[in-house]
Amino acid sequence: MEEQKLYHLLEKMTLEEKVNQLVQIPASAFEKSGVDTGDVEERKYTQRQISQAGSIIGMVGAENVRRIQKHHMENHPHHIPMLFMMDVIHGFRTIFPIPLGQGASFHPELVERCAKAAAREASSSGVHVTFAPMSDLVRDARWGRVMEATGEDPYLNSIMTRAMIRGFQGGCDIDYQHVAACTKHFAAYGAPQGGRDYNNVELSEHSLREYYLPAYKAGIQEGCKLMMTSFNSLNGVPATANPWLMKKILREEFEFEGVLISDWRAIEELITHGIAENERDAAYLAIESGVDIDMASHCYADHLEELVTSGILEERVIDEAVFRVLKLKNVLGLFENPYRGADPSEESRIFLNNNQRALSREAARESFVLLKNDILEKKLPILPLSGCRKTVFLGPYVESQKLHSSWALMGREKDAVSISQALYEKKKGEELHFHIIKNMNENSVQEIREADAVVLCIGEDRMQSGEAASRGDICVPEQQLSLLRRLYEINSNIISVVFSGRPLDLREVSEKSKAVLAVWLPGTEGGNALLDVLYGNYNPSGKLPMSFPYCTGQIPVFYNHYSTGRPCLKENTPYRSCYLDIPNAPLYPFGYGLSYTKFLLSPTTLSHAVMKGEKDIITASVIVKNEGHVTGTEIVQMYIRDRKGKTIRPVKELKGFQRVQLAPGEEQIVEFAITEEMLRYHSPDGVMRSENGKFTVWIDNSSDTRGEGVEFCLEK
Ligand code: GLC
Repeated sequence: MEEQKLYHLLEKMTLEEKVNQLVQIPASAFEKSGVDTGDVEERKYTQRQISQAGSIIGMVGAENVRRIQKHHMENHPHHIPMLFMMDVIHGFRTIFPIPLGQGASFHPELVERCAKAAAREASSSGVHVTFAPMSDLVRDARWGRVMEATGEDPYLNSIMTRAMIRGFQGGCDIDYQHVAACTKHFAAYGAPQGGRDYNNVELSEHSLREYYLPAYKAGIQEGCKLMMTSFNSLNGVPATANPWLMKKILREEFEFEGVLISDWRAIEELITHGIAENERDAAYLAIESGVDIDMASHCYADHLEELVTSGILEERVIDEAVFRVLKLKNVLGLFENPYRGADPSEESRIFLNNNQRALSREAARESFVLLKNDILEKKLPILPLSGCRKTVFLGPYVESQKLHSSWALMGREKDAVSISQALYEKKKGEELHFHIIKNMNENSVQEIREADAVVLCIGEDRMQSGEAASRGDICVPEQQLSLLRRLYEINSNIISVVFSGRPLDLREVSEKSKAVLAVWLPGTEGGNALLDVLYGNYNPSGKLPMSFPYCTGQIPVFYNHYSTGRPCLKENTPYRSCYLDIPNAPLYPFGYGLSYTKFLLSPTTLSHAVMKGEKDIITASVIVKNEGHVTGTEIVQMYIRDRKGKTIRPVKELKGFQRVQLAPGEEQIVEFAITEEMLRYHSPDGVMRSENGKFTVWIDNSSDTRGEGVEFCLEK
């Protein structure tokens, strides 16, 4: 529909009809078949509110959606279709690795394909909008929602946010096989005090702009159609009623023109935050802050109309919000076809089909991070396993089909391939000597003793991460550690496979294992993907998108930290910024991950050492050589340090990465362009600018860069 007709439609609507376009009703208010992702009030919406609602959250299923939409259209005074919105975070029916695992792939093109595949399944099931990507930067592994993020680095998060939005939305016109993307949670939800979900966030504007805002801005630049407010308060003002965040930054600075939706009942929560007297007050604060849609609370539905008629709120504010909602419906083609992609036959054609499963398996393989792989006495590393060697598998995850997160709302355990299922399937086609041990007894002890390798599949339960799942201690469950200690006494050739939604304290696991593989929550094809890696059919290439702390007490720990005036550069130096009892360095750093082969990086060279003016580009390069015996992919990373700024600058920042696949003996020159733009930062006067001076560049395969790096200057 041409936009002019949208104006005419708006003009024909009553105030009540307009207000109800800004109301999002939980599926359970319609019928029991929906998925509620928050606590739903006892209080019911009126029949008019329901029959005129602008959108619904949590109702899926092609037949359900078509039936509900048809009824809605017939009863709506202007036959305006509803938007059907849902959290499609890392897959719909086919589940992909959690976003933290997808971040570990450092493979934006793959991440885009996963989002596209998820959108294909979701749109066939009637979904119009997904509440993803989550672009919150995370540095605190105690926070349960790190699993939904892509890590601690603004550059990587920005790239992954863009990739997901491209995958979900396709081009700027969102066709029937794609869905609108909602970047979230604006802003800085990933920095709650104490790592405790929903807690306050205290951040300097400098840190907010340097680290936390870039990925949301990237989402807007990539064309996301919605943004979601965050539950947290930021420096004393709840995000959902924060005109500075929502108008000055989001609308004016970032030029966001899409729909701003609250998080689940976040408008109503302004009362419990203590800045709204009641729901009427909350509705006023939120709408005046620019929040277009009220998700799942009654504030807008019950109070906006009266706020206008009593002269407190200008109707213009309502009209602007409603127009954005109508435009969203229009860009999705809902006025032409309210049923869009909802198609039961497409559901059965696409759900979990071979292509979807193959992609899930591919993404899972690339999400795994090999953290340790010791050389055994025969000068060979313990991994990869070979089929002829006798291997025992044990631990809580061997039989488990709980391979996806609490946010895989439409994923079903029965569709997931467990490790044991994958083993029996693999054995059908090749020589494979393994034994699955379900519990420890005398016979199993003998089996373990005689094994060439012991694969221990451990980790935290999937309900120990996700929303409202913060942990005060990121330890591996004690009963699993005692099993590890018992095993270690019997046979020390232990390979620990760690399932988790977050970085864990892996000190003892690493100490008592010859190999450690972080597999996150790998999704529907997790078992098959794991065997692909364990048996060498795929050489692991994943890199950590988030540091693994040495222990909980070290949190927050992240690679792009500041020097301080007393950096701890040498052990046992007095008066230094360090701990008495633990190291400063994480157990495993951002960007780190091993391979089954050995990559050698030459020293970094520069095309020239002085960047003359803003248009000049320095080319930094290395030669990467595969010194090992198997083909592998290395993720070559470029880090830059600004030696002096008007504010302190991080000791290094990721400014580029490239995936390089090399056969044994093969080598390749890898080049990075260093531009003046990438040297800019938020200077004290609020302007993004670079400054003349010295910089250091490293090209390496982890943030734990080796050597002094290479110096260059900027002379504008
Ligand atoms: C939840 C989450 C948000 C999600 C929304 C709808 O509370 O915070 O990420 O999109 O509600 O389910």
